[in-house]
Amino acid sequence: MNKSVILTGLRVNSDFTLGNYLGAIKPMVMLANKYANTHQLNMFIPDLHTITVDVDYEGLNKAILNGVKDYVAEGLPIENQNVYTYRQSYISAHSELTWILDCFTGFGEASRMVEFKDKSQKIGEDRVSIGLFNYPILMAADILLYNALWVPVGEDQRQHIELTRTIAQRFNNKFGNIFTVPKNLLEQAKFVGVEKSLRIRSLKYPNNKMSKSISDPAGTILLNDNPKQAAKKIMSATTDDFAKINYDWDKQPGITNLLQIYMSLSDETKEQTLDKWQDKNNYGDFKRELASIVEAFLTKFQQERNKIDESTLIHKLKISESKMQEQANAKLLSVQKAVGLR
Ligand code: TYM
Repeated sequence: MNKSVILTGLRVNSDFTLGNYLGAIKPMVMLANKYANTHQLNMFIPDLHTITVDVDYEGLNKAILNGVKDYVAEGLPIENQNVYTYRQSYISAHSELTWILDCFTGFGEASRMVEFKDKSQKIGEDRVSIGLFNYPILMAADILLYNALWVPVGEDQRQHIELTRTIAQRFNNKFGNIFTVPKNLLEQAKFVGVEKSLRIRSLKYPNNKMSKSISDPAGTILLNDNPKQAAKKIMSATTDDFAKINYDWDKQPGITNLLQIYMSLSDETKEQTLDKWQDKNNYGDFKRELASIVEAFLTKFQQERNKIDESTLIHKLKISESKMQEQANAKLLSVQKAVGLR
């Protein structure tokens, strides 16, 4: 029997953020270490997703390799042969399946994607690309090509996972059992061992998501930030004047976000963290402890990153890409047959 597949990918439009790490990299690396002997693990670079918006094209190739380096520095066990890491654009079946899925996706249904609406509003309708509009269907192809059942992602990807499930079910109803339908986000979270998928907020504007946006450097911790400066960002994070630590996203989003980062980084349960900090009135003590956890985490990550040998990565990419091409092409062929193209 084929192994059950766990899959995720992160765009390399800028350095990864602490939000990327806690929402997707950390859960994936944990699953890879736990399940690599029984499951197939695909942690890839969605480089075709990256070019849906303007990027530094000259630096893209280097950024892609840096992304893989980050995966490994965070503990992805690439020496395990069930772990695959690859560049999406090296496997042409991703683009080909996207086209076919496009033909089974409604324009209205794709138009409802909130991430697209948000981003296109920022970019402006005249400059937004068709690629950005089509991005969730490409993401569905990324998942469905490999029969991935488990897709650890942050909360912001909920709608895209739902769309993937809808497309897969629609296709299966019409053509027989072609695709594995990935689990919904709640089941995904349970698999990872958390209450729900994470949405880490900006340190400065805690009602917004922490994102790669360059317009909010004080609210965003990048994995390549100077660790001391990152600690300072925690110290100056926006909180409130309740003067009482309390886990409440509605009333105290700033301090709740810091509690979330604290429990996620220190691997404590919510209960353990709240036991320690709930109702304390000194935000400074709490921030200082979190700042030193963040500083130690970034220092260790950056040290690990410096040790990585690029030639090992390139070798792993090539092996993975060749194997994944086989799997993806086989799935693509079954789809082409189903719709009568072969
Ligand atoms: P991307 O590149 O925007 O983000 C990568 C991953 O990081 C998570 N994430 C966060 N999690 C918690 N808090 C945050 N503040 C935060 N910011 C980002 C995202 O939820 C995501 O899991 N479309 C995807 C990439 C992709 C993909 C796929 C993922 C392409 N194909 C197939 C899974 C499977 C994206 O743009 O994520």
